[in-house]
Amino acid sequence: MRQEDPVATAAPVETAAMRRAIELAARGLGHTSPNPVVGCVVLDSAGRTAGEGWHRRAGGPHAEVHALRAAGERARGGTALVTLEPCNHTGRTGPCARALIDAGIARVVYAVADPDPTATGGAATLAAAGLDVEGGLLADEAAAGNEAWLTAVLRRRPFVLWKYAATLDGRVAAADGTSRWITSPESRADVHRLRAAADAVIVGSGTARVDDPQLGARISGLADDEISQPLRVVVDSGATAVKAGARVLDGTAPTLIAVAEDADTGHLDGLAPILRLPRAADGRGLHLPALLQALYAREVRSVLLEGGPTLAGAFLAARAVDKVVGYLAPVLLGAGPAVLGDAGITTLTQALRLDVTGTERLGPDLRVTAAPVHPALHEEN
Ligand SMILES: NC(=O)c1ccc[n+]([C@@H]2O[C@H](COP(=O)([O-])OP(=O)(O)OC[C@H]3O[C@@H](n4cnc5c(N)ncnc54)[C@H](OP(=O)(O)O)[C@@H]3O)[C@@H](O)[C@H]2O)c1
Repeated sequence: MRQEDPVATAAPVETAAMRRAIELAARGLGHTSPNPVVGCVVLDSAGRTAGEGWHRRAGGPHAEVHALRAAGERARGGTALVTLEPCNHTGRTGPCARALIDAGIARVVYAVADPDPTATGGAATLAAAGLDVEGGLLADEAAAGNEAWLTAVLRRRPFVLWKYAATLDGRVAAADGTSRWITSPESRADVHRLRAAADAVIVGSGTARVDDPQLGARISGLADDEISQPLRVVVDSGATAVKAGARVLDGTAPTLIAVAEDADTGHLDGLAPILRLPRAADGRGLHLPALLQALYAREVRSVLLEGGPTLAGAFLAARAVDKVVGYLAPVLLGAGPAVLGDAGITTLTQALRLDVTGTERLGPDLRVTAAPVHPALHEEN
């Protein structure tokens, strides 16, 4: 396997094809969990695009297989550009490394090495079969497209995106508790897109009690069967916030009520599955690492944490927020609850500092995306 700087040495046609493969991979977002999103472009021996593919849904063919099928005989002697190292194991589908070898591919360029211990080793298999193999081309861009899955595999818990909607002075409700709606329809539509891309949406019992949220994803222009609904999770230690008739119990998406081991849940019998968890060591609510582990065991790889402020503070204190997306409305309230509750930070030196990774105008609002400062994911393992 070649080790020189792949971006410096890559032919422009390969860089363009990898960029296209990253675009294709993104089409799978929200549909492939617990698998990654993957895109693949096959170039023929003359460097022309012969086939394209992406992993469309878990259990379905991998990106390489789609692209090889589209390329047919033109794959022979060609190059495959893949956003993730081709897998080496037989899961629900056969190993992609084998499919590439059998199709007569001469060269494989992948962006990100596969950190999943059950799938890794594809590059070595390809090289052993005599193919020219190179890794790392556009690795940062490809890793960004797969950040939820990479985070989940590396941390052995779901990727957590904390979302909030606030006034410009950082409030999520007015002093009288009214909170609908602070942000614009454009921002709210964007939140539905985030829900559809997530495997699960989590709210605390306070939000369930006050807002009675439905938490499903609705995207204008898309039919119901084109949207993957997230698992709706309410963290309700005492099982007192969710009652029969709550909107989160409607039949549009699965729901899970996380409660303490000793909670009385008789009134929820037959209404929603119950997840019993230990209480947090400080007695405030449930043990969040146990919640995330339980969700991971249910193949949840990405979580949209929708608050409220108390639960978000607890997630931050547990260092279990991987990214933050804030919708800031040009609205001032001057009083009312702040966007974030106690996160265990008492002095400025403990402040959690973030890198802003994106800013966008959504109607009158501003969306700011930021992530805690840590090394690039694909460089961690
Ligand atoms: N604008 C926004 O983006 C947004 C989003 C969501 C909510 N909100 C607003 O926020 C307000 C509700 O927020 P809130 O802070 O009162 O409630 P919350 O954060 O939704 O829920 C807090 C509750 O979650 C439970 N919980 C379970 N495990 C926990 C843990 N480990 N740590 C902390 N809490 C845990 C606790 O109650 P139990 O232990 O009794 O279960 C706790 O009181 C509402 O006004 C709502 O409109 C705004």
